[in-house]
Amino acid sequence: MKDKHVLQVNHLAAAFDTEAGRVRVVDDVSFQVHRGKTLGIVGESGCGKSVTALSIMRLLPQPAGKIINGQILYRGTDIVLMTPETMRTLRGRHISMIFQEPMTAMNPVQRIGHQIGEVFQLHDSKLNEAQVRDKSIEILARVGIPDPERRIWEYSHQISGGMRQRVMIAMALAVRPDILIADEPTTALDVTIQAQILDLMKQLQRENGMAMIFITHDLGIIADICDDVVVMYAGTVVESAPVNELFENPRHPYTCGLLESVPRLETQRKMLLPIIRGIVPELNNLPPGCRFQNRCPIAIPICESALPALTSVGNQHEARCYLV
Ligand SMILES: Nc1ncnc2c1ncn2[C@@H]1O[C@H](COP(=O)(O)OP(=O)(O)O)[C@@H](O)[C@H]1O
Ligand SMILES: [Mg+2]
Repeated sequence: MKDKHVLQVNHLAAAFDTEAGRVRVVDDVSFQVHRGKTLGIVGESGCGKSVTALSIMRLLPQPAGKIINGQILYRGTDIVLMTPETMRTLRGRHISMIFQEPMTAMNPVQRIGHQIGEVFQLHDSKLNEAQVRDKSIEILARVGIPDPERRIWEYSHQISGGMRQRVMIAMALAVRPDILIADEPTTALDVTIQAQILDLMKQLQRENGMAMIFITHDLGIIADICDDVVVMYAGTVVESAPVNELFENPRHPYTCGLLESVPRLETQRKMLLPIIRGIVPELNNLPPGCRFQNRCPIAIPICESALPALTSVGNQHEARCYLV
């Protein structure tokens, strides 16, 4: 295949219509995802990571959520313009997502095995019942569910939250998607299960060339599994770079703040976002200029003038700061 970008997001903007008017919560977000590679999206809570992911899936909460600008090219075709029918096929076969809150995404009245089985059947209608059951049991075992032979007969309310999250992960992986979007998928799971699931994702990536977008607060996971990283702040991309470059040579003061307390790439499995003093500005009341200015240790008067452009600061490395 000639294009190695499976997904290309160009100048995406998304908004919610609220009583106080339209609030743009994602603004001018661009990135590419390559076949067989993992793009990490990192940033504090509320910076627009989930809204970016939901925009790609065309699953923004309705009727308030809207994509108001930009393109989302899947193998060259704009997702923003696709019909609901095409989107359903795309979601069922090519792009799957593991949601931050899995509780809403499972069907309470169908047995777990049936729900996973449907995914396999959608993919390969020639599979017989026994084959579907074997595959369902196998994928549940691979996400670390004990006794999968028994679990397939249970309903989602009969299993724990962590187990339900693993079932959701199993269903997303059963699709063998071209692109997997994982929105903080392992945050609630214990470290051993988390490591097992990350290994499984990496393995499927090697087998299928699956591309991944991995949204996380955990800089350890970013260092561990991502090839490229996008750092978001208050709805915009403030920095993007290949993972080693970002860790070794962070340029935006926000990224520097995030990385400050991270000692070394390879040490510590859990590296959660450190606290940067101050608070994120309200998205419906943004200051003119750089959105990070009120928390930035090196801000100067020009930072209050206008939003800085995302500027190339090296090979495949961009930052949105007047001072880089
Ligand atoms: N359904 C909604 N209605 C209005 N605002 C929303 C809704 N969902 C999210 N937002 C707002 O959009 C912004 C980005 O949210 P989100 O993408 O969930 O952040 P993140 O995933 O980075 O924590 C936040 O300011 C949040 O309050
Ligand atoms: Mg989120």
